[in-house]
Amino acid sequence: MAIFNKAKDNISIKDIELPEHIGIIMDGNGRWAKKRGLPRTAGHTAGAQTFRKIARYCSDIGIKYLTVYAFSTENWKRPKEEVNAIMKLFKEYMIEAINDFQDDSIVVKFIGDRSVFSPDMLELIERNEQDSKDRDGMVLNIAMNYGGRDEIVHAVRNIAQDVKEGILSVDDIDAQLISDNIYTATQPDPDLIIRPSGEYRTSNFLLWQSAYAEYCIMDVLWPDFKSEHLDKALIEFAKRNRRFGGI
Ligand code: FPP
Repeated sequence: MAIFNKAKDNISIKDIELPEHIGIIMDGNGRWAKKRGLPRTAGHTAGAQTFRKIARYCSDIGIKYLTVYAFSTENWKRPKEEVNAIMKLFKEYMIEAINDFQDDSIVVKFIGDRSVFSPDMLELIERNEQDSKDRDGMVLNIAMNYGGRDEIVHAVRNIAQDVKEGILSVDDIDAQLISDNIYTATQPDPDLIIRPSGEYRTSNFLLWQSAYAEYCIMDVLWPDFKSEHLDKALIEFAKRNRRFGGI
């Protein structure tokens, strides 16, 4: 099913070339809640609903890869109550995806260091990946306990181990080898990274992969993010002149 909205300047997304891979930093949940006098956790609940809608929309319009930044390696510093509330939202989503998405086309993957998760969370993560791996639709990467630096450290350790065991030589190490050893190995790099909530930071998101990504910073808090905002970012992306270091 194709859904095409007209953005403000009257260009429809059906008239433009869409990015293959979009990354989204789902930022602004806390501020959204504060503005309404609600606890921060209410912002995350609303943010989880926005995630569901936007992931579905991306799949409907034909995006091939979507990576959402849901929980960083640094987010454990937050109050326990907030961390627990976010973990509960993950669990709810993963159970829902197992039960209700059997006929879906979306391939669900998790990127990040999963060694910290409890056995029941791990089981849900693995079941989601297993159940969806043969589907032919959009790949949805959910970044949980994800950090770009942490990802690179893991990749370097794997490569160093292979060198130590004589499987690789130092001369084999190049950018492609590092790309092959990060969580998104086999996937194309993101073309477009959207950050709602107006912050101009990468916040440790897809550091290696974003070398030539176009950024779109949007002045809207994540729970208020709608398909129209995505269309606006797509149209903005289509106007960019990507040179990848050339002229
Ligand atoms: C950043 O906003 C948001 C997070 C750290 C959590 C994101 C989690 C969700 C959207 C819900 C769960 C997701 C899934 C996949 C079901 P912030 O809290 O830093 O906002 P602030 O900058 O306004 O405080």
